[in-house]
Amino acid sequence: MQALFLAGGKGTRLYPLTYGIPKPMVPIMGCPLLEHNMNILKLYGIKDIILSVCYKSAYIKNYFGNGSAFGLNLKYVEEDSPLGTGGAIKNCERYLKDTFFIFNSDILSNINYYEMLNYHNKQKAAVTIAVTRVDNPSSYGVINFDKHGYATSFCEKPSADNITSHFINAGVYIFNAKVLQEIPAGKNVSIEKEIFPKLLAEGQKIAVYKGCNYWLDIGTLEKYVQANQDGFIGKLFLPNMNFRQQSIYSQPNTKISKSVILRGPVYIGENVQIQANTVIGPRVILGNNTVIGKGSNISDSILWNRIQVKNEIKIDRCIITDESIVKNASHNNIITPESTRPI
Ligand code: GDD
Ligand code: MG
Repeated sequence: MQALFLAGGKGTRLYPLTYGIPKPMVPIMGCPLLEHNMNILKLYGIKDIILSVCYKSAYIKNYFGNGSAFGLNLKYVEEDSPLGTGGAIKNCERYLKDTFFIFNSDILSNINYYEMLNYHNKQKAAVTIAVTRVDNPSSYGVINFDKHGYATSFCEKPSADNITSHFINAGVYIFNAKVLQEIPAGKNVSIEKEIFPKLLAEGQKIAVYKGCNYWLDIGTLEKYVQANQDGFIGKLFLPNMNFRQQSIYSQPNTKISKSVILRGPVYIGENVQIQANTVIGPRVILGNNTVIGKGSNISDSILWNRIQVKNEIKIDRCIITDESIVKNASHNNIITPESTRPI
């Protein structure tokens, strides 16, 4: 079975995190979001993956290559200018056959893909859309459906006075390949606003799958922080870590001085050095190739990769992006190599 990731969006709501990298590559518990989601697909035996890329596509291609180092078979389909969600799917038609999964690349969920596929087959649907219930659906695609589990209407990002359901499109679909014939080629098309309503109007069956009880769209800074915190309390499924069982995870080649105090939960990436008399934790992620200077104190913070924290620095509630050098104490800030600003 194949999976297609829509990974071309700009991720403007995550600025400044996405100035340098595309949104699907923001690290969640030390691992790019896209890699995390592909690792989960591997557990289901899905290794043939198509990546529909546009914004900062080189970053994604350089990281994953052809996928062989990750146990995956990856193909890239590039857009010169954004084709929208529907146009991007159509653009991948040459690689897609039979029945396949499609994912928005900015979500985390605990959907059981075997169950979703069985449901799709049982419902004999052209498309199955995973839905999840949210309190405020106004930034999502609202879906109404009947008692047999088939969609009856769609409303993308409704205004507050036009909310007809709290079930929203969770950004995970199963498509039968023949649906691709319904999408016009070479133009910007929205799958949510144009194609799903068109399929309904034609009388095609769109099933809704409700088996999703953990779901997060990493669309905002607040949600980005939440995803990492959910990892620490075991709410977010992490293929190789379970913080309910173990409070400190450390990757190979770390150098941690004996006098360092680690207060779990803490995640320490590869080649991290933590110098003497430092206190790390709770709820701290140290990305790969990071150096923490003597006598520093870091709590409730997400550090990406290749970061230097100088000696005697206190950091609390910060997100620090790749290659930053931290020379001053910081609280509640996003620190990038160029600037520091409040979260
Ligand atoms: N290749 C490509 N080209 N990918 C794109 C393009 C494009 O032009 N536009 C968006 N994408 C990708 C994004 O990278 C993201 O992974 C996915 O398509 C969805 O785009 P978002 O920009 O994140 O959409 P949204 O969050 O506002 O809304 C969508 O997701 C919600 C759930 O998180 C919709 O599908 C909603 O209906 C849904 O509820
Ligand atoms: Mg989104």
